[in-house]
Amino acid sequence: MARDQSSYRMTMLLATIFTHLLGVSITLLVLFWLLNFREGFAFTSDVKFKIFNLHPLLMILGFIIFSGEAIIIYKAIPATRRVLKLTHLIFHLIALGTGILGVYVVFKFHNELDIPHMYTLHSWIGLSTICLFGLQLLLGFVTFLFPGAESATRARLAPWHVLFGLVIFAMAIVTAETGITEKFVFLKLKQGQEALVVNFIGLLILLFGIFVGLVVALPLRRK
Ligand code: HEM
Ligand code: HEM
Repeated sequence: MARDQSSYRMTMLLATIFTHLLGVSITLLVLFWLLNFREGFAFTSDVKFKIFNLHPLLMILGFIIFSGEAIIIYKAIPATRRVLKLTHLIFHLIALGTGILGVYVVFKFHNELDIPHMYTLHSWIGLSTICLFGLQLLLGFVTFLFPGAESATRARLAPWHVLFGLVIFAMAIVTAETGITEKFVFLKLKQGQEALVVNFIGLLILLFGIFVGLVVALPLRRK
């Protein structure tokens, strides 16, 4: 029994460490892609693609990585329930803030180049994801934090919160994958270094999504 517990704890530790490592690798690869192969970043510039590049940067590093880290926090650090809840909330607030800013910059980029809005599947799933994310945050806040529901209601709502949270996170992953594919096609990338880097970003994001799901699926069994 004690052996089961310790091997279980080891699985949890390895899964969370691997998820963090994926997050760091994605961050480095996205920066390498946008700084080395693309134009870099700017909020205002005559080189309009500098404005566009803020979109994948903020969506991947802000929205996806922070949201994933917020979700696995319950298994990643041994802290009190209140600290875990607050960290979960703060990371999700950062994710939503950067997500909204990331969508704002791509709208700004489209406006400045007179490109129409919301004409792709990517943009439809993306905007729905941001809206559902905002709703989940609001409902999570009022149910679990302030004013907070009765404990029986909280217990009844928790599995729904977890289910919808994972669905919304999966939608964010799908949005990122479609965005990456779109950009790949717009850039007419074929074989070559940049194509490899972009495809690897997509693969690592998929793995990150799978590992966040795995960490959530592992039951919480602390001493
Ligand atoms: C997961 C987070 C993401 C969300 C919520 C999201 C959302 C959006 C939205 C709402 C638009 C429409 C802008 C408009 O119509 O003016 C858009 C455009 C675009 N996004 Fe994303 N995006 C995400 C990630 C990415 C990533 C990682 C890339 C990779 C480069 C990307 C590439 C694009 C491109 C190329 C466009 C312009 C074409 C289009 O409207 O589909 N997106 N995105
Ligand atoms: C868009 C924002 C949010 C998403 C996507 C989300 C998603 C999730 C997910 C997937 C889990 C499962 C974690 C696990 O079992 O390992 C979870 C747990 C939890 N979340 Fe959130 N969450 C969000 C916002 C919030 C907010 C604002 C609060 C309030 C502070 C909150 C409170 C909780 C609590 C208390 C749990 C543990 C539930 C339990 O007892 O099983 N969440 N969340």
